[in-house]
Order: sequence, then C-alpha cells, then structure tokens
Amino acid sequence: QTSQVGQLINLHQTAAKLYHHILVSTPAGGAALHYLQKRGMSRQLIDEFNLGFAPDGDEEVLLEYCQQQKLDYQLLRKSGLFVTDRAGNLHDRFHGRVMYPLDGSNGQVIGFSGRILASKGNDHEPKYLNSPETELFNKRQSLFNLHRAKKAARTAGKIILFEGFMDVISAFGAGVANGVASMGTSLTDEQVQIIQRFCNEVVVCYDGDDAGQNAIDRAIKLIAQDAPKLTIRVVQLPAGLDPDEYVQQKGAQSFQQYLEGHVETPVEFQLHYLRRGLNLHQQDELIGYLNAVLRIIAGVSSAVEQNVYLKELADEFGLTVASLQDQVKQIGQTLP
Ligand code: CTP
Ligand code: MN
Ligand code: MN
Ligand code: MN
Ligand code: MN
Repeated sequence: QTSQVGQLINLHQTAAKLYHHILVSTPAGGAALHYLQKRGMSRQLIDEFNLGFAPDGDEEVLLEYCQQQKLDYQLLRKSGLFVTDRAGNLHDRFHGRVMYPLDGSNGQVIGFSGRILASKGNDHEPKYLNSPETELFNKRQSLFNLHRAKKAARTAGKIILFEGFMDVISAFGAGVANGVASMGTSLTDEQVQIIQRFCNEVVVCYDGDDAGQNAIDRAIKLIAQDAPKLTIRVVQLPAGLDPDEYVQQKGAQSFQQYLEGHVETPVEFQLHYLRRGLNLHQQDELIGYLNAVLRIIAGVSSAVEQNVYLKELADEFGLTVASLQDQVKQIGQTLP
C-alpha cells in the first residue's frame, strides 16, 4: 500500500509522461511543438525538462486516463491537476498549455506550470497557470530546476537566480547549469533558506525591464536580511531582454561572457537603480541622489570598498573624494 503522498507523486509522474508523449509524439501536440521550436527550444532540452502539452478544447485527456486506471476520486481531487464543477465532477485543470513539470527535492514531479501558446496572457487566461497548493506543492518553497542545478551550484559555489522557466531552460542549454527560478518576481524567505543550503553566493539575474529592476531591489534586500552570510551579486541584462531572449538573440557564448563580465555588487546596483527617472543635471535631483547613495555607502563595512564607490561618484560629478568621505562619516554617526 503506497502512502497518499506516494500516490500523488505517482499521479504527477504519470501526468508528466502523458503530457510529454502528447507533445512529442501526437498530432495534438504539433502546434505546441512548433511553438517551442520557434522559441529556439531543442528536442534535447524538451526531453531533459520533460516538457509536455495539455490539449485544448473539451478533451479531458488526463481525467480519461486516470479513470481508465480506476484512480480514486479523492486522490484526483487532492492532486490539484483537476478542477471540480458545481456538480462535483472533475475536469482537467490544464487545457491548451505547454506543460512545465515542477520538480521536488528528489526530482519527482510535484506540480506543473502551464503556458498558453499566445505571446501574452489576458484577464481570463493568465500566461502561466500553476498547480494550486497541494500536499506536494508549496509555491513559496519551490525553486524551478533546483534538483538539476544542485550539483552545478556546489561545484561553481553559486546559484544563479532567474525569474522564469524559459530563462532557466535557455541558460541550461547555453551551458549555465546552476540556474533556478523563483517563478515570478517575488522571492520568498523560504526560497532564500533553500539557496543557502547549497552554496554561499547567489547571483540575481532578472529581466532587463522595470519589473525586473524593482524585483532585484526587493530580492537583494530580502537575501541580505534573511541570509547575511550569502554573498549577493547582480547581473543586469541589457534593457528589454530577459535571459532567454538574450540567449536566443546573441547566443550561448555571448551569454556566458555577459554573466561573467557584468557582475555587480548590491551597492553598485543601487547606484544605478536609484538614478532611474532622475535628471542629475538638476541640482536638487543630484543632491537627493547623492544623499541616498551616500547613505548606502555609509553602510558598507569595508573602507576600501567605500572608497571605490566614492571615487566613482567624485569622478562622475566633479566632486572631491574628501568631501564625500566627510559626508559618509557624518551619516555613519547617525546610523545605529
Ligand atoms: N509567472 C507566473 N504567472 C504569470 C506570469 C509569470 O507564474 N501569469 C512567472 C513564471 O514563472 C514566469 C516568471 O513569472 O516564468 C517570469 O515572468 P515573465 O518574465 O513575464 O515571463 P517569462 O519567463 O519571460 O515567460 P515567456 O518568455 O514564456 O513569456
Ligand atoms: Mn473541461
Ligand atoms: Mn519578467
Ligand atoms: Mn521574462
Ligand atoms: Mn521570456
């Protein structure tokens, strides 16, 4: 007799196999396969990540399969793979979506995210639809690809944190195997604790858009608070590109070089981030900006590191390092 959790895992494994089979070996998966190919996804990556497709329309492929297998109604209900109508009848939750299996710590499938084939979602159809919280799947504790990335993370001594599924998969295809995704833009305390177990450095590489920048700002503050011993680095992508788009447009080698060559400390990130929307030719905006960044620099414990930032600012704005140092000292006296 398999435990309930065991049965739920078996059901998810079965569903992943079914969705994968539909994607790669049936006409029903043709459009989705074409969609993935158009996005530059190789067959090898599709197999490695066990991607699948849940057919569109009225078909209830998973439900029919489970009923053939005479699986228990309560088990199906608890799996999150179905929705229940008013009469209590089950229907497949996922329709017309590319299926990304979400792996648990041992690589077992514990949930899914499904992506529509259209480029964007809308009010009725979110771009990505995730499994609900179940006995297996807890979104706050889940990092996409952690299971595969663990080994590479230990070897490299660091994990790269991306926003999304396609970012992780394209990076993996480009030879960057230590990437995981927080699946959306809000990193959780639980995810930070998990990252901390595998390495002592985390590189935040979110999308090169405003949402990505704001998310970096939130993520580095959260990590610094939750895991003070983790070294935090940031890689900001060129405006308008996410990691997947970067790989598709510029290739694997360029992506690897970018990741190596554009590493910033959290303070360097703040120096850029706090400028957004400001006109630093305006004296009051410049002074406001300098006050904000000097407060951040005052919090840096290494005097050498402080001076690197101060020199940069002094050079750029035609100020003396000494005057900036004075102000940092003053601020330092007011800090706890
Ligand atoms: N996400 C989600 N639900 C949505 C939108 C996004 O769960 N409705 C999560 C997904 O994990 C997604 C990540 O947030 O991968 C980042 O969002 P976004 O940058 O909008 O998506 P991309 O990963 O770029 O997806 P794609 O390239 O497929 O458009
Ligand atoms: Mn239905
Ligand atoms: Mn994004
Ligand atoms: Mn993106
Ligand atoms: Mn994308």
